[in-house]
Amino acid sequence: MSALEALTSAPSRAGIELRPAGLTLRETVPSDITECGRILYEAFATLAAEHGFPADFPNVGVATGCMRGLVTNPGFYGVAAERNGRIIGSAFLDERSTIAAIGPVSVDPSAQDARVGRALMGALLARAETQRAPGVRLVQISYHNRSLSLYAKLGFDVRETFAAMYGEALHLELPGYEVRPARPEDEAACNALCLRIHGHDRAGEVRPALAKGKLRVVERLGRVTGYATGIGYFHHAVAETNDDLYALVGAASRIDRPGIVVPLSNGDLFRWCLAHGLRVFFVMNLMAIGIYQQPRGAYLASVGY
Ligand SMILES: CC(C)(COP(=O)(O)OP(=O)(O)OC[C@H]1O[C@@H](n2cnc3c(N)ncnc32)[C@H](O)[C@@H]1OP(=O)(O)O)[C@@H](O)C(=O)NCCC(=O)NCCS
Repeated sequence: MSALEALTSAPSRAGIELRPAGLTLRETVPSDITECGRILYEAFATLAAEHGFPADFPNVGVATGCMRGLVTNPGFYGVAAERNGRIIGSAFLDERSTIAAIGPVSVDPSAQDARVGRALMGALLARAETQRAPGVRLVQISYHNRSLSLYAKLGFDVRETFAAMYGEALHLELPGYEVRPARPEDEAACNALCLRIHGHDRAGEVRPALAKGKLRVVERLGRVTGYATGIGYFHHAVAETNDDLYALVGAASRIDRPGIVVPLSNGDLFRWCLAHGLRVFFVMNLMAIGIYQQPRGAYLASVGY
């Protein structure tokens, strides 16, 4: 029995059966990329079409590229679900930083609503437990009643609501707020800022963004007062004030759909985005298990948290 099977074959502590009969769970391998990419595309496209939304992934090629990035990145732990030798779903745990993040989770539309998603989630939560993650989070599209219900049943609490917002580049400069590419010596200041605002850093995302030349900082009076690992769905930003965040978003060269993930409890930020022509794509919920501190500053979430 593999370690993963051992983790998920017994009922959970809450007495929940984690693995339905006939279902095999195993870690993802590169040869899964094509089929898991197809399922990722189909699962989200079918769901979006049911609700009259455009698909999250514009085509199966983009979804497969995303899947390749997940399966081949050692910072992510991937699980595939198989039945009768056929892959029917996959799910990923982002283990790069202190707080673990789940996503994407996708089950073949023909196999949905039969506890496969629950089994995949159980495997990831078991993994997070063995890795001693102090918290696990995810961001869920709010129109998906099934994922909302499943995650709540598994113990996740809704902590924030976001709007994914997209639009044309704003070409804004705020006097006194210098936005520039980060330098290696900025890394510590970025992590310290995140720690101060969220109670934990996201160093495992900051470092690769810096290495790829994507990390940007805003500097005010000679201090780093905000950073962004990029602008958009897969990136996060943290700042002392909304103005620092406006400088970072204002300097972005593009804000592609689905867009930046704006916490709706920050009404000033949401109204600023609206006033600058950004459009709401969809609304999402941040759901969390474990430690959660109300942020003490401004931020944009990523699709993870
Ligand atoms: C979300 C997803 C992964 C869930 O997997 P699944 O195999 O379909 O779901 P499961 O059968 O394991 O669990 C669904 C649970 O929600 C419950 N549920 C479904 N619709 C519900 C509703 N409208 N209200 C209340 N409960 C509901 C089911 O009864 C079930 O609970 P149970 O396990 O206690 O019986 C899958 O549906 C999917 O791929 N969706 C499209 C992609 C997506 O949105 N992924 C999630 C991104 S965060």
